[in-house]
Amino acid sequence: MVSEPTAFDKAAAQWDDERRTARAQRLAKQILQYLKETETALPQASLLEFGCGTGLISFALAPAAQQFYGYDISQPMLERYAAKAKVFTPLFPGQNFKAVTQLDDVPGVDLIVICQVLHHIENARELIETLKGKLNPGGQLLVVDFPAGADFYHSTTDTEIHHEGFTRQQWENWCLEAGFASTDWRIIYQGTKTDPEGKEHKYELFLGVARAQSGENR
Ligand SMILES: C[S@@+](CC[C@H](N)C(=O)[O-])C[C@H]1O[C@@H](n2cnc3c(N)ncnc32)[C@H](O)[C@@H]1O
Repeated sequence: MVSEPTAFDKAAAQWDDERRTARAQRLAKQILQYLKETETALPQASLLEFGCGTGLISFALAPAAQQFYGYDISQPMLERYAAKAKVFTPLFPGQNFKAVTQLDDVPGVDLIVICQVLHHIENARELIETLKGKLNPGGQLLVVDFPAGADFYHSTTDTEIHHEGFTRQQWENWCLEAGFASTDWRIIYQGTKTDPEGKEHKYELFLGVARAQSGENR
């Protein structure tokens, strides 16, 4: 059965505009800063970006890892990631970027990044549990998304929104229930979007981090 293209499938070709590229670079910078500050950067890390889109975040995170896996449910998005991986992999000596169509194809990784995806996932809590199973001991899950309670304006129309943001408490509870050893949370981005009527919507993004126990069996 051939399914109808989703809004993300249709948006893939125009995804990398100036606004999204600049935002991804700022977010990636904050993630790199977090890893440095918490002394959790690993020279030979492996990183999975879940819901990678065209890879704006993954490629901006190049200093964070050696082996990158990009996974997305949208084939057109993943094709863009794969095309960039072909160009970028030879440009970053010692680093490899790989688009994957199945999560099962990804071995245990040190870092998992999910940027502006979790609010699209109906069972977000279950996904957190699934991804914990993909982390190496001491590995970290890093989620960037909207804090709950803000002016939730979404400019990408026709996408399924299952959560109008998340609270810090929700993040902590879900991660601890999934068996993570510790969690962290900070606001890392403040931006403005203008709707088609010209009204400005201010929004924030948080970085939620969950760390798996070191030496723990996955
Ligand atoms: C707002 S975009 C973010 C893309 C990328 N993370 C970025 O920051 O540029 C959301 C992405 O999540 C993907 N997505 C939505 N639901 C998904 C699911 N269940 N599994 C994997 N990817 C999903 C979409 O296809 C889309 O590429």
